[in-house]
Amino acid sequence: MSFETPRPPSWVVCQACGDEDTILTPHVRCRSCGGLQEVRHRAPGLPGPLLRGLFNTRCCHRGDSEVSGVWRFKELILPGLSEENIVRYPEGNTPLVFRERLAERVGVEDLRCKVEGMNPTGSFKDRGMTVAVSQARASGARAVACASTGNTSASMATYAALAGLPAFVLVPAGQVAPAKLAQTEATGAHIIPVEGDFDACLRLLEEVAPTVGVHLVNSINPFRIEGQKAVMFEILQQMEWDPPEWVALPAGNLGNTAAVGKALLEARAWGLLDRLPRLLAVQAEGAAPFAAGFADQFATRHRVTATTRATAIRIGDPASWDRAATAIRETHGEVIAVPDEAIFEAKREIDRAGIGCEPASAASVAGVRVLRARGTIAAADRVVAILTGHLLKDPTPDPARMTSLPPIPATAEALRSALA
Ligand code: F0G
Repeated sequence: MSFETPRPPSWVVCQACGDEDTILTPHVRCRSCGGLQEVRHRAPGLPGPLLRGLFNTRCCHRGDSEVSGVWRFKELILPGLSEENIVRYPEGNTPLVFRERLAERVGVEDLRCKVEGMNPTGSFKDRGMTVAVSQARASGARAVACASTGNTSASMATYAALAGLPAFVLVPAGQVAPAKLAQTEATGAHIIPVEGDFDACLRLLEEVAPTVGVHLVNSINPFRIEGQKAVMFEILQQMEWDPPEWVALPAGNLGNTAAVGKALLEARAWGLLDRLPRLLAVQAEGAAPFAAGFADQFATRHRVTATTRATAIRIGDPASWDRAATAIRETHGEVIAVPDEAIFEAKREIDRAGIGCEPASAASVAGVRVLRARGTIAAADRVVAILTGHLLKDPTPDPARMTSLPPIPATAEALRSALA
């Protein structure tokens, strides 16, 4: 379909064939050609400084949706969605912290961490999920589903519970952190373990979901991307719209890389920014098809059989490849792969600095270290590392850190000698 003028505030465009649809579409992919879609917005109609002021006033506003760190930016997220359809916790409003000890260890004077583990279900996924589940409800969905390495499922389960929708999750059997499964199950979602990896789960679900009337909320769903943009708007707001030189993040299925890039390009187009930070997407060495793609200027689409102990990013065939490639190109970004040892080493530093995160999240800081060592990132550059998930999401004890004291007898004497 195509729109008469004037256009609605937001609409959906197929990135492959350009076909357009309304934001109430029940189709996750383009209904003409099956391509991935993108949400577009009319410019918000206020100059940048006025928009910034509006968002600032909402930080202290206790109104239902505006206190959300996603819906506070609704003019940039999904302005056309009516308030009664919004399913919110609320989410976002996560801290942007500076820890001297961590900055020193990484060798970057102004290194800040955006602690997305402080979202309601413990990961950044809540930002995308509030929008995807709200849109699903508005479009009349009867049930929602996703494939997941654990965080998307926990988030979807919670937002489906808030919306009163049944939820189905496909997970790679035996490859998801137990805490994430427990969280997903507790919230009432139905878990279907699959004999295969994450990529197989997503392929399977994409094939079957549309035929059984189940609404898919993985990040191929363009409304997930809109919500996940909010982390970048929030970082910019916390930095008083003076962007850092670099934003680093872990990369798996590439939805987040795509979202952060789209947020930056839109912020510039709408007068909120005049300079873009460079994006640094970091993959685990055993799950690094996008880093291989970056190395050949994205001339070919790489696929691998993924292996890494950072289970959240154990993904070999990322769905948002093209969107993320645009984000990297447009921000003059970098994509690198780091070994698991470097990820766990960075996690130790983050945990000991009093922040804490799950293993996959620490890839961002591990990546900053590599680019600092190469000199691509300068000591004086301001860098934001996004920590995507909470420490308790995947608390597998680190063998290098286990003190493994045997239990002591309950006597003062035994305690004195243990403390000594
Ligand atoms: N960090 C964490 C903690 C994640 O859970 C994920 C993805 C990523 C980073 C990568 O983000 O896929 O947008 O590039 N987890 C998905 C899930 C795949 O199912 O929870 P991405």
